[in-house]
Amino acid sequence: MPKSQSLGTAVSIASSLLAASMSRKLRIESKDFAIIGFRPVSRLVGSDRNPLEFHPMIEINLSGKRALIMGVTNARSLGWSIASKLHEAGADLAFSYQGERLQGELEKLTADIPSSRLYQVDVTQENELASMFADLTTAWGQIDYLVHAIAFAPRAAMDGRYVETTRDDWVTALEVSAYSLVAIARHAEPLFSEDAAMVTLSYYAAEKVVPKYNVMGVAKSALESSVRYLAYDLGGQGVRINAISAGPMKTIAARSIPGFMKMYKKAASISPLRRNADQNDVGNLGLFLLSPMSGGITGETVYVDSGFHVMGMELGD
Ligand SMILES: NC(=O)c1ccc[n+]([C@@H]2O[C@H](COP(=O)([O-])OP(=O)(O)OC[C@H]3O[C@@H](n4cnc5c(N)ncnc54)[C@H](O)[C@@H]3O)[C@@H](O)[C@H]2O)c1
Repeated sequence: MPKSQSLGTAVSIASSLLAASMSRKLRIESKDFAIIGFRPVSRLVGSDRNPLEFHPMIEINLSGKRALIMGVTNARSLGWSIASKLHEAGADLAFSYQGERLQGELEKLTADIPSSRLYQVDVTQENELASMFADLTTAWGQIDYLVHAIAFAPRAAMDGRYVETTRDDWVTALEVSAYSLVAIARHAEPLFSEDAAMVTLSYYAAEKVVPKYNVMGVAKSALESSVRYLAYDLGGQGVRINAISAGPMKTIAARSIPGFMKMYKKAASISPLRRNADQNDVGNLGLFLLSPMSGGITGETVYVDSGFHVMGMELGD
């Protein structure tokens, strides 16, 4: 069908929808168009229910799948935003938290998630990692999804200039924020199911200078590079891994970055969407990257930052 004719048909279908929304009656018949992503419910072929309600045509159903989420402090944590979506999609969940002081909050958060499992794991402690994965081997036998939402750098390393970073602070930041992904992948490898997937959380400072981010920017570079190497290593068994590069969001970790609120406001004003992406946006992307919907994507860094990273210059209003 020529383009102009297609456009005409599209317009006529749109008018039919509008008319139907008023008359509550509709029959769409066209072999040229599909409404992609939505399935008109039965009312669109003549029942008397509201014709403007649509059901998703493709549902993400993860019932029977098992997901481990590492790095949840509270309801604002990016790890929690992905966990909530996985839960809504039907997956069983296990969580790791860093120390006893975080246990109570996580217990409260997961109170309504039946049979969720909680583990205390400091990722710098091999024995704690080993004991969690040993328990998951017994309890679950396999893992389908793994979320790594962990980062840390000593405050002193972000307060000053990058050139002043101490050896100890550099090693700590890189160990907790980047090496932990490699260690976790290694422990999880024998447990991964056939189409298992991992995601980790990164930030734009991995590739461009963001003042004050300092050694954490370097750690994120190592993290994104590790994602590519792990994608290659794990890809042979069908396991995927991707990084989500999120824009600034108000979390405990973010608030420990000097000048975070300034950065937060600036990012919103520069971004094409003129707002900051939020936890819900991260949750949706996490769900997509873990689910079979993204089956051909691995080794990638995917942005959820209201488009901030595409900007080359800001001229103001
Ligand atoms: N908030 C943002 O603006 C933003 C933007 C981009 C990327 N990220 C990344 O998202 C991830 C999650 O951070 P968040 O912002 O949700 O903050 P958060 O404070 O909620 O989560 C960070 C988690 O890391 C855990 N952690 C730190 N050291 C650990 C250790 N040694 N062992 C085990 N766990 C440890 C903390 O306990 C905490 O649960 C981090 O990788 C962060 O860099 C955050």
